[in-house]
Amino acid sequence: MARTPRLSVVVPTRNEEANVGPLLARLDAALAGIDHEILFVDDSDDGTPRAIAAAAAGNRRVDLVHREGVGREGGLSTAVVCGIHQTRGEFVCVMDADLQHPPESIPAMLAVARGGADVVVASRYTRSGSRRGLDGTGRVLVSRAASGFARALFSEARASTDPLSGFFLCRRRVIDGIEFRPVGFKILLELLVCVPGLRVQDVPLDFAARARGTSKASARQGVLFLGHIRSLVFEVQGSARPWKFGLVGLSGLAILLPLVAFLTASVHVPALAAFLPAYVPSLIWNTILNRVWTFADQRHGLGEGTARYLERAVLSGAAMFVVYAALLALGVAAVPAAVGGALLAMVVNGMANRAAIRRRPWQWSEVAISHGVQAALAHITSEVGADRSYLLPPNASTPAAFPAGMVARVVQQRRGVLYTEAAGYRAQRRSNIEVGSTLMVPVVDGDTVGAVLVCERVARHPFDPEQLDRAMTATPALVGLIPAAGGGRTSRRAVKPGILGA
Ligand code: GDD
Ligand code: MN
Repeated sequence: MARTPRLSVVVPTRNEEANVGPLLARLDAALAGIDHEILFVDDSDDGTPRAIAAAAAGNRRVDLVHREGVGREGGLSTAVVCGIHQTRGEFVCVMDADLQHPPESIPAMLAVARGGADVVVASRYTRSGSRRGLDGTGRVLVSRAASGFARALFSEARASTDPLSGFFLCRRRVIDGIEFRPVGFKILLELLVCVPGLRVQDVPLDFAARARGTSKASARQGVLFLGHIRSLVFEVQGSARPWKFGLVGLSGLAILLPLVAFLTASVHVPALAAFLPAYVPSLIWNTILNRVWTFADQRHGLGEGTARYLERAVLSGAAMFVVYAALLALGVAAVPAAVGGALLAMVVNGMANRAAIRRRPWQWSEVAISHGVQAALAHITSEVGADRSYLLPPNASTPAAFPAGMVARVVQQRRGVLYTEAAGYRAQRRSNIEVGSTLMVPVVDGDTVGAVLVCERVARHPFDPEQLDRAMTATPALVGLIPAAGGGRTSRRAVKPGILGA
């Protein structure tokens, strides 16, 4: 597909033979006047690919990726990521093929995004939205419970009334360079949690009943959803922070209370004197656990952060001791007195640390929403004549579209590369064929490489060495705007790294 279209529509399909024809007809009508491309990512065993080909005949804006065998691993979620990966539009819309998501909503969603939103969610639960297409009370309850659960856990999910919607539109640049690995059906939730700070806006969705065929949602999807939530909690540093902080506090009680009981009952230490030897181990435990877990993304060496944390801990420890001593004086036994003191200490500690608890996860993703970075990238894009430019973290794996190890090489050698792909294998070809061409340039900050700048274009003429030079000259403008190398980056599923954005 030539040039960067305004909008890419990604439609995952699995056995939707009867739906794709009507869907394409409605998409065609709805998107008249919008520069767009439509990509089906298909895992079907029925005639869906044929139906798409027939319905799209002559429409050069429609493309199909058909996956077989191991290519289908991960199902819907990898299909969506693959579709986002293989399209180029400035905005990307993800929707279902079964006509539960009316294509007629897309122009309004695009308008909201162009008005400044990073993500536009078609919500079943916003005013004048509807969920009439959810078949059965059971399904409605499950859907509501799952949504409520996600919203309770992740403050980022509360940005939308329907964080589990399968119909949304986003600005491509907010997903460039982000590790984006949903499992199951909840791709939007993944996006919201992994890119905190997005400007999210809901539009009402009239969720229609499935046109034909059957839903692929099942009990298995429920299990996958729980697995996905687990991975968002445990593998995204700094996510669900208030819950992590609270859990760590409770786990401290599991050390403190048995120690108080043991010291007073078995060793016969006076209750007042038992406080310190019981409190200190639980404080150490809490400090370490909060550091490596709750605030994993805010760690910058041992110094400052921990010192301030300890100050606050001593403050809440003092408050705890006062309550403990007062309860003992009132004749309360040591263990219940310690429970009372600890409850107050947890409240005091939570209040004292509330700014750090509320701080949204530090992530490379800040890059995607930083106006400074985006302005610098826009400047470079026009300077070198690219379709688009984006940044990859220095430890990113090379996007699938490029030779393996290309990013690592640019970082190691600290030299830019110019990569051009010929249009075909024949030497003699028409001169008006467009070729894909890429510049990759290290952003060097002192002794470290802070990021890798990627400029892409699809045009009749590839980039030339002069444009590579220009890109290299322009990168110092990015230094200082991007996060310090290595700091706090999420190491989500580090064994199988993969960075979106090619
Ligand atoms: N490529 C591919 N591979 N597509 C798939 C797969 C798969 O393994 N499984 C499902 N799809 C496609 C379907 O063909 C359909 O276009 C879309 O993904 C959604 O599948 P449905 O089976 O219709 O799911 P649903 O209606 O139960 O769930 C939808 O609504 C939920 C909200 O209630 C989805 O949009 C969910 O993402 C959403 O959370
Ligand atoms: Mn459906």
